[in-house]
Amino acid sequence: MISRLWAKIGKPSPQTAESPQPDRVPQHVAIIMDGNGRWAKKRGLPRIAGHHTGMKAVKRAVKEADRLGVKYLTLYAFSTENWKRPKDEVDFLMKLPQQFLALELDELIEKNVQVRMMGSKEDLPSYTIDALEEAIARTADNTGLVLNFALNYGSRKEMLDAVKEIAEDAKAGRLSPEDIDEQLMNARLLTGGIPDPDLLIRTSGELRLSNFMLWQLAYSELWFTDVYWPEFNEAHFQEAVMQYQRRKRRYGGL
Ligand code: IPE
Ligand code: IPE
Ligand code: MG
Repeated sequence: MISRLWAKIGKPSPQTAESPQPDRVPQHVAIIMDGNGRWAKKRGLPRIAGHHTGMKAVKRAVKEADRLGVKYLTLYAFSTENWKRPKDEVDFLMKLPQQFLALELDELIEKNVQVRMMGSKEDLPSYTIDALEEAIARTADNTGLVLNFALNYGSRKEMLDAVKEIAEDAKAGRLSPEDIDEQLMNARLLTGGIPDPDLLIRTSGELRLSNFMLWQLAYSELWFTDVYWPEFNEAHFQEAVMQYQRRKRRYGGL
């Protein structure tokens, strides 16, 4: 009765307002995990405390994505521009993948999660690469959620590298300019076989992309929250997905 009344006045029924619908879950969710430093500052703590607590939010986001039936979760963990930060902070950030995986890899394996990484391995310390490569190798055959860490990732570098590779192929006669289309570009980007994000989430109140997946986000739905990343929880994730489910995607059509 109540839900019929809601339907009549054009609002979602109380039930659908509380949790995402199991159909129409975004296949690929990408997150710009921002606001660790401000979260710490607000508490009188050093910035690295925000990064440390941010790992717990990563764990929550992975679990919630998996529970909701999201197929790909891409997390922006370190940008090509983040090297500009003080050395101590960069060093701390570089140790996080190893720390996170030491704590979580067994559970990720148990949950059938496949770990991937997108970004440049150049300049990454060997312990960071080793931890990621071990996780990638040990989860390569898993068929559940794909957990893609964007680490030392920058969209402009990604596109320039792809363009250089294409130019080399053209110069060597392996392809001609007519072969260069969206499909070829998609294949040459670091996202390879991963579909474009359906939903982009950015925390901390900043309303920008900060060099993240500029090509792939062409038609993604964007959702911003003022919540700082270390506070991001299951309810926020659900709210983003519910907002996504209320949107009408048009891709330039009607
Ligand atoms: C996001 O939090 C983590 C990384 C960029 C590595 P920030 O460190 O950017 O935190 P704010 O934006 O300064 O608060
Ligand atoms: C984007 O956040 C990068 C990551 C979340 C890893 P930043 O904090 O680096 O972005 P800006 O500097 O505010 O644009
Ligand atoms: Mg930031």
